[in-house]
Amino acid sequence: MNKSDCIVFDDVTIAYGAEKAVRHVSFSVPNGEVFAIVGESGSGKSTLVRAAFGMLKQADISGQILLNSIDISTLSDGDWRNLRGTQISMIFQNPSAYLNPNRTVENHFKDLFRAHGESYDSRRVIDMLNLVHLDGGERILASYPFQLSGGMQQRLAIALSLILKPTIVFADEPTSALDILVQASVLDLLREVTQALGATVIIVTHNIKAAARIAHSIGVMNKGHLVEVGPTEEVIHYPKDDYTRVLLDSVMKVV
Ligand SMILES: Nc1ncnc2c1ncn2[C@@H]1O[C@H](COP(=O)(O)OP(=O)(O)O)[C@@H](O)[C@H]1O
Ligand SMILES: [Mg+2]
Repeated sequence: MNKSDCIVFDDVTIAYGAEKAVRHVSFSVPNGEVFAIVGESGSGKSTLVRAAFGMLKQADISGQILLNSIDISTLSDGDWRNLRGTQISMIFQNPSAYLNPNRTVENHFKDLFRAHGESYDSRRVIDMLNLVHLDGGERILASYPFQLSGGMQQRLAIALSLILKPTIVFADEPTSALDILVQASVLDLLREVTQALGATVIIVTHNIKAAARIAHSIGVMNKGHLVEVGPTEEVIHYPKDDYTRVLLDSVMKVV
């Protein structure tokens, strides 16, 4: 762990009441890299990224989480509002979580710019839509979410979460709700676009193969513990932990 890294978890333990969902987790992510958190359902993956996004007001968090050297426990609600969308953003599993069925694509972008006190910049929006391969310019802008496929909705969600150029992006199972054939293309896209922005990314996935496709480093969670962490190549080809081997075996069997 290096304290000057972009994202740092230092001995983080998170409890919901009496239940500890995350225990003594430490890792850090250098600037501009993609870090994947893998592990089965209930292992504490979402808890980690939600804590770092300031979403766990009700949980008991000990240890330190640093984002760009800022200890997030010092942030006020106002600080979080300013940071979210502009500096830090989150992509969720289900794009409908942030798409409004009554607003056109263009109005989604307009609302976002307005919420952050920026004037609407249609050139920037078109450029971002091209970057996420939602080509078709004006036609896409005039569409309502229901007129887009699931894959297109998630591309739109990615575009919305990146348009204000955050330096840190969290993605919690961003492709799990998508058709298996679209999953890889959305992952590749996420890597491509965040790299173009120079953003640092934590992506949560239960699929270690998906993690290997996109991440520089991988952390493996098992029952709240970070049981293995290292560069992707090492974790995939020379796993140290038995549980990592189980995850790798299970993926290989399915394919
Ligand atoms: N809001 C919550 N209140 C109480 N327990 C929770 C809450 N969210 C998650 N948990 C529990 O914490 C553990 C880890 O959950 P989670 O972080 O969602 O795992 P994952 O994302 O790996 O599936 C699970 O046992 C889950 O039941
Ligand atoms: Mg989860």
